[in-house]
Amino acid sequence: MDINYSERIPNNVDLASDRTLQRALEHWQPEFLKWWKDLGPSDFQADDVYLRTATSVDAKGWATYGFVRMPEYRWGIFLADRDPDRRIGFGDHFGKPVWQQVPGEHRSTLRRLIVTQGDTEPASVEQQRLLGHTAPSVYDLRNLFQVNVEEGRHLWAMVYLLHAYFGRDGREEAEDLLARHSGDTNNPRILTTFNEPISDWLSFYMFTYFTDRDGKFQLKSLAESSFDPLSRTCQFMLTEEAHHMFVGDTGIARVTKRTLEVMKELRTEDPDAIRLAGAIDLPTLQKYLNFWFTASLDLFGVETSSNAASYFAGGVKGRPDEWKFEDHLAVDQTFTLETPSESGGVKAEEIPMRNAMNEVTRTEYVKDCEIGVARWNRLIQKQGYDFRLTLPSTRFHRKIGVWAGIATNVEGRVISRSECDAKQGEWLPTQSDRAYIASLMQGVTEPGKIAAWIAPPDRGVNNQPVDYEYVRLH
Ligand SMILES: [Fe+2]
Ligand SMILES: [Fe+2]
Repeated sequence: MDINYSERIPNNVDLASDRTLQRALEHWQPEFLKWWKDLGPSDFQADDVYLRTATSVDAKGWATYGFVRMPEYRWGIFLADRDPDRRIGFGDHFGKPVWQQVPGEHRSTLRRLIVTQGDTEPASVEQQRLLGHTAPSVYDLRNLFQVNVEEGRHLWAMVYLLHAYFGRDGREEAEDLLARHSGDTNNPRILTTFNEPISDWLSFYMFTYFTDRDGKFQLKSLAESSFDPLSRTCQFMLTEEAHHMFVGDTGIARVTKRTLEVMKELRTEDPDAIRLAGAIDLPTLQKYLNFWFTASLDLFGVETSSNAASYFAGGVKGRPDEWKFEDHLAVDQTFTLETPSESGGVKAEEIPMRNAMNEVTRTEYVKDCEIGVARWNRLIQKQGYDFRLTLPSTRFHRKIGVWAGIATNVEGRVISRSECDAKQGEWLPTQSDRAYIASLMQGVTEPGKIAAWIAPPDRGVNNQPVDYEYVRLH
């Protein structure tokens, strides 16, 4: 169904046919806008930003580009088209028709999953709210705001489901999604990673590469859900999410490229010399990567999870790209898990496959992360340097799961606590690394100009030139 833009809330769910739901959402809309004004991007709200807006949900040509003031962005409700023949793709009810309503026995589980997903969306906007002031270019500023408005739309996506399918509880949850705030001591966001401010652009690129990618895999798992409206909502969110990861991927590539230019110019790999020239040395880039990759790994939850097993059995939440797996029941299978051994090493443990679903998803995520790392390394290799960026072991620097709090090196070998403490500064950003990165963060607002620590993008947005005035500042 086409998107109806003539209504107060753009949608492709025929909202006008359900007056009660429409009124309830129109009630929530001003609350959302108030939240956006108070906790969305600080300043820039009166500026014209070159943004894309969804116009249809099919794969090609779903977006239109134009100048919009952010508070006037048309946030709406867009679900992928319904497949009338869709069947449950995994678990105990494999092959039965999918659900158009929420089954009573899965109601609280589904509500919790939707709320947890929904909570991350506005959280990331809050985390990034000050970044606009230090954007390295107008192109980047525009990308930040594109990501922000779309995370706002993802909140709409979840709020629609809560309102439409969970009655009064759902409406209350929708209000709470605007009441919790990132970093708020009394009422924080649900997941820890979403309570840390993102105060520099290197972290922003790492976040959009690694943490938005966690979002991708969560959405992929929820897109498999037997609750069809959730599946269709997530399918469309995934198409938007791809851009966020593009921003991270190309952002890190551009930082790397600029560093390599400086290394060539100065004929040195010495981090101090590279910093003196105003670029980000590769070891520092690696430390930021270590931090954000490991923080994102934690978001997948514990390795052995009876909750994950029951989500799978019940058909509530599947594996990413379930079609890729041969056996959709996963009853008699096991998964080999690496856990800490009593002697201080690693031991293999067989656990039932259904209990290992978090780990299965995390494993797929790690493979996906490798793709960007290989691409960045090709840039380094092409310039003739031996340095390589690497993903640390999934055992390193974990806060959740069997490896939480266990001292390991970046390769995942168990080491003593004192050795681990002594090496922290080599593996993770130190205070002085962070201070250095912070010192680079100065906004560049002239179209076509770029900060000294990052290379310009290879191409502009929507075939516009790189030096296009992507944000018209007033
Ligand atoms: Fe999102
Ligand atoms: Fe995102």
